[in-house]
Amino acid sequence: MGAFKEPHGGELKNLYLPAGDTEAEKVAAGEYPSWDLTGRQLCDIELLLNGAFSPLDGFFNKDDYDSVVKTMRLKSGVLWPIPITLDVSEKFAANIKSGDKLALRDLEGVILATLEVGDIWTPDLNAEAKTVYGTTDEKHPAVNYLKNIGNPTYIGGTLRGIEEPTHYDFKHLRDTPSEIRDRFKKLGWRKVVAFQTRNPMHRAHQELTVRATREVEANLLIHPVVGMTKPGDVDHFTRVRCYEHLLGSYPEQMTMLSLLPLAMRMGGPREALWHAIIRKNYGCTHLIVGRDHGGPGQDGKGKDFYGPYDAQELLKKHAEELDITMVPFQLMVYAENRAEYIPIDEAGDDDNVLNISGTELRRRLQEGLDIPEWFSFSSVVAELRRTHPPRHKQGYTVFFTGLSGSGKSTIANALMVKLMETGGRPVSLLDGDIVRKNLSSELGFSKEHRDLNIRRIGYVASEITKNGGIAICAPIAPYTATRRAVRESIEGVGGFIEIHVSTSVEVCEQRDRKGLYALARAGKIKEFTGISDPYEVPENAEMVIDTVDITPDLAAHRILVKLEAMGFIR
Ligand code: PPS
Repeated sequence: MGAFKEPHGGELKNLYLPAGDTEAEKVAAGEYPSWDLTGRQLCDIELLLNGAFSPLDGFFNKDDYDSVVKTMRLKSGVLWPIPITLDVSEKFAANIKSGDKLALRDLEGVILATLEVGDIWTPDLNAEAKTVYGTTDEKHPAVNYLKNIGNPTYIGGTLRGIEEPTHYDFKHLRDTPSEIRDRFKKLGWRKVVAFQTRNPMHRAHQELTVRATREVEANLLIHPVVGMTKPGDVDHFTRVRCYEHLLGSYPEQMTMLSLLPLAMRMGGPREALWHAIIRKNYGCTHLIVGRDHGGPGQDGKGKDFYGPYDAQELLKKHAEELDITMVPFQLMVYAENRAEYIPIDEAGDDDNVLNISGTELRRRLQEGLDIPEWFSFSSVVAELRRTHPPRHKQGYTVFFTGLSGSGKSTIANALMVKLMETGGRPVSLLDGDIVRKNLSSELGFSKEHRDLNIRRIGYVASEITKNGGIAICAPIAPYTATRRAVRESIEGVGGFIEIHVSTSVEVCEQRDRKGLYALARAGKIKEFTGISDPYEVPENAEMVIDTVDITPDLAAHRILVKLEAMGFIR
């Protein structure tokens, strides 16, 4: 009952070794093969070790994996919707066998846990995508992770925790499931509604959570995800400051804020089920499930990945077994005539209903426009404005891509000079040739090396952008997935404008300003883009420029006009 809620599967796991055993394990682990955990794995391991993923006791072995993918159940029969896997490179896996022990390290090399290896296998990632997420479209963040970010081999096994992952931020708001359970117990909170969120909270969310808690006569746990959310989301530092401002608006003694270091998969219905299980492990009795809970938005064809109420339906179907009660919620809208928020289906013909969508809010922030008091709290808006200055004050990256000799560098140079003439922000040029001399001098032109080169450019550009500067990049960047990764790493910190310099290979070859095409044709340069190596044409570039029709000066001018229209130049 209440704070004494049974964890999922019956037992709240704690995979950390007893204090007396950690030192010996740590010393022994120094000799084990060692894997550096990725960002997503770091999130997963924290929640495995502290019991938030009870009843799991490690990363999935193959039988649990197959069973969860196909039936949403562990082989024991316990409901579990999302595969929790340790994905490693083929090279690493080649030297590991079942029964081995691994040391799992964080980004700084600290050993967090050891893994006793069970199964090692190569999963069918397409089947995983299709069955778990219902799609193979790479616009789905989890599918993109499987196909372009994660590693191809899975290693399963049981974990022995040595040290908790370190967090330097918001320490006072980070709690394990047993800590939260103890707090509930101490406060006498027997019924607790959890609110999951990956967005800043505004008045509609405040209203919704207050209504939900009143409806079921419970207390409220605001439990935002601060691990990994959808690319492009507001960073968790800003969000947590916003939540802290909002806390003051709740009735006293009613609400608790705690942060969940979860790596979301954006898996819609399965994600919602997972969220419910996790909150049950934290001792909550109820979970608010809104419209399109855990959904990633739209696919490549503009169609929603999941139906708006699929998540609610799936939770309803498993209600009894789940043993945490869903509080379904509709979109809350502001009825101006009543001066209050109401669920959208309560709005009558006489109601003047107002709403500001996420996209509209971003636009207003970008353009420095008014955000009304009915929509949000002024302290929250001020916090958002601090980290989201209007576009003309943000940094941005202009990313040229195109064949060798297409005119990228010339236009990039012209653009740089024009931007320096305008002034305001520092400008850095990361031209293909310059980068290869200074940053990537040891790299060749294999796919692997090209990708590494582009990722380095992307990294430098994102740092420049984050700090309010302008980065102009002009590599060939022939691969779509890598360009996309760069875009995603930059869009979270500022603007990203991709410009495809589409001058055809025939024209580039005819010009052959560096004489490289002749050498490539003669077989003296191997893997030459457009001749003996692929170039994947961008499909979503902000601009396309063919230098046959236009001078570099005019091309740079057109880009300035575009930047102005996008709000980056005033
Ligand atoms: S990539 O694919 O984005 O990493 O390429 P990039 O760093 O832009 O480097 C391209 C410049 O290197 C010269 N070069 C080649 N290009 C393509 N393929 C092969 N094999 C190759 N070998 C050398 C070429 O001059 C490119 O310069 P740009 O400025 O694009 O003409």
